[in-house]
Amino acid sequence: MTSTIDIQIEKIKKSRVSEQDINDVPFGKCFADHMLVAEYADGKWQNAKIMPYGDVPMSYAMSALHYGQAIFEGMKAYKNDKGEVSIFRAQDNFKRLNKSAVRMAMPEVPEDLFMNGLIELLRLDSAWVPTSDLGSLYIRPFLISTDEAIGVKISDTYKFVIICCPAGKYYSEPIKVLVETNYYRAVRGGVGFVKAAGNYGRSLYPTKLAQQKGYQQVIWTDSETQQYFEESGTMNVMFVIGDTLITPGLSDTILDGVTRSSVLALARDWGMKVEERKVSIKEVFEAIEKGTLKEAFGCGTAATIAQIIGIGHNGKDYALPPVSERKFSPKVDETLRAIRKGRLEDKHHWMMKVPA
Ligand code: COI
Repeated sequence: MTSTIDIQIEKIKKSRVSEQDINDVPFGKCFADHMLVAEYADGKWQNAKIMPYGDVPMSYAMSALHYGQAIFEGMKAYKNDKGEVSIFRAQDNFKRLNKSAVRMAMPEVPEDLFMNGLIELLRLDSAWVPTSDLGSLYIRPFLISTDEAIGVKISDTYKFVIICCPAGKYYSEPIKVLVETNYYRAVRGGVGFVKAAGNYGRSLYPTKLAQQKGYQQVIWTDSETQQYFEESGTMNVMFVIGDTLITPGLSDTILDGVTRSSVLALARDWGMKVEERKVSIKEVFEAIEKGTLKEAFGCGTAATIAQIIGIGHNGKDYALPPVSERKFSPKVDETLRAIRKGRLEDKHHWMMKVPA
């Protein structure tokens, strides 16, 4: 996986950054000036280029479109009060991209291509990193198979691309979730533990049904017994019951979320009791009824912390404690923001500075 691939740079003639308020744009719809594109062919990575963001020619027979050999990452860059840009836990996203690549029979992306490409891209597009307290530059690295062929087989050619978009809040309000026991996000032996595009495609229909009933998201259960919570929407899910933080343990149906691991690290730093294990629906509803469930929230790169204030199950709605009474998750949210904005010591060395 070693590589010393050169990255060509073609700069945009005139930046588009002043065409909108990057501190106030809808998530994922406005893209920074440049993108990185690298090709894999003849068994090696080649033609790495940073170029103006734009459309690329492609064949409608391209294999990713038909058979879903497509994986991605989500990560974020932040600007501190001095105007310096840093990326949050880039190494972890890099490693997970390659874990996804292995599971999807795709070539791994060399570390220097990923890291140097990312840093060069962010140096060029540093003006796109929001300065607002809640703002960040969302970074979307992805890998797609590009063979022009309809036969089902492992592709011989791929493209690795990084695009970026300024982002604010992902959810504007706390969410209500519906326990989903008919459709599953992931199954044993499947690809739920990696960031495969198909995991998201398959979630859309059940999510639409939940939204028609007034919920913003579903909370997924395990496909074998429907007794245990797995994730919520596109996020890992956590509960505070009594004084313990509880979250489903990692398995082949749970994504090893970077935000998940950051939340757990902070909880442990603060001496909180943490349990990573199966979390049954029964224990959560019993805790709601006894009043011992203090908090429920989703965590992921896009949202950081999404407060869950209601859970629907079997035709009944359960109200959870109001966000104003929650102690742990708002503190996590604030602490992560302070570390990312350079206002609090980065004890875990999560931030990687982008040289000016
Ligand atoms: C994330 O929060 O990292 C996600 O994967 C959500 C994304 C699909 C928008």
